[in-house]
Amino acid sequence: MILEQNVPLQPYNTFGIAARAEALVRVRSEDDLRAVLQDARLAHLPRTVLGGGSNVVLTGDVKGLVLKVEVPGLRLAGETDRHWIIEAGGGVVWHELVRWTLEQGWPGLENMALIPGTVGASPVQNIGAYGVELQDRFHALDAMDLFTGEVFTLNHAQCGFGYRDSVFKHASHGPEDLGLAGRAVILRVRLALPKKWKPELGYLDLERKMAETGNANPDARTIFDWVCAIRSAKLPDPAIIGNAGSFFQNPIVPDEQYQTLLLKHPDLISYADAAGKRKLAAGWLIDQCGLKGQRMGNVGVYQNQALVLVNYGNGTAKDILALAKCIQDKVHEKFGVSLQIEPNIL
Ligand code: EPU
Repeated sequence: MILEQNVPLQPYNTFGIAARAEALVRVRSEDDLRAVLQDARLAHLPRTVLGGGSNVVLTGDVKGLVLKVEVPGLRLAGETDRHWIIEAGGGVVWHELVRWTLEQGWPGLENMALIPGTVGASPVQNIGAYGVELQDRFHALDAMDLFTGEVFTLNHAQCGFGYRDSVFKHASHGPEDLGLAGRAVILRVRLALPKKWKPELGYLDLERKMAETGNANPDARTIFDWVCAIRSAKLPDPAIIGNAGSFFQNPIVPDEQYQTLLLKHPDLISYADAAGKRKLAAGWLIDQCGLKGQRMGNVGVYQNQALVLVNYGNGTAKDILALAKCIQDKVHEKFGVSLQIEPNIL
């Protein structure tokens, strides 16, 4: 275990915010993590777990110890009658996993191509895109309890997945409650990829691609290429312009509120959700407020997708959060809908 001090975090967060970690350890194995837990110098320090830094807003220097998860590994861990079980280390770049599984002939992750971040972070917010969420392919994960040093396994039900949500986003409120925020480091994730693969094409952007190309039966590799093309056209590449993907969750409102909104805004974009509820496209709401492409100093609303906030360079969390507040206020004023911030504010 190598302990680094006063480490610049700008390269480790996709928003490109300048901040430092008081101390940082790269976790490449369970042993690295055990060494941290047993080190008297580190015992009293607060701990922050960082994956690819693609879903965080750093509000300042990070006090205490940053655990940067870099656990490697990609393997076929087993199979059942219906699934290939693939295991990936928490530090593997998510897109590399998607690409590798396709190369091996195990499709199923292609709709989630190009989602930034690491495998270890993928269950935390139950990543998803173009009609498939992590929970649709999830099998189990291994994590270490940062308080006891114990390695434990969680199955699908134990992860408590929801829309951009899991047990890793919630604090524990008692022994019955499995909240794991700040408590666990995800070491390995196992995915179950169906042996009888079927394409998932029920998403408007993919339907458009089918119409454009005249290909109504795309294979997984074609869907992968389509998703990469769609995302590259809409979402800014963090290597060029700082961002953390969607900055707000798509708000879920009761059916009655949706019906009232629809009367006033007949072109409102929304999706089916749980019974009695409707999910609204937050990007559309922001766009309708005339905010797409607007700039506020060093930060702005991305010109091709209003749900993404961007850092033009030198932007701080203060700038980003001021812009976010302005957007929330405008959307609330026009539609009476509250937008929730999606990335973690650290
Ligand atoms: N829209 C607009 N104007 C905009 C942006 C969007 O009118 O500026 C409309 C689009 O035309 C579309 C609808 O709103 O009809 C939804 O937009 P889009 O398909 O781009 O997806 P999204 O709802 O904005 C969600 C996820 C993305 C994921 C895409 C594709 C959330 C918060 N975001 O975005 O995930 O890639 O669907 O499945 O659920 C992320 O979480 O960081 C992320 C990028």
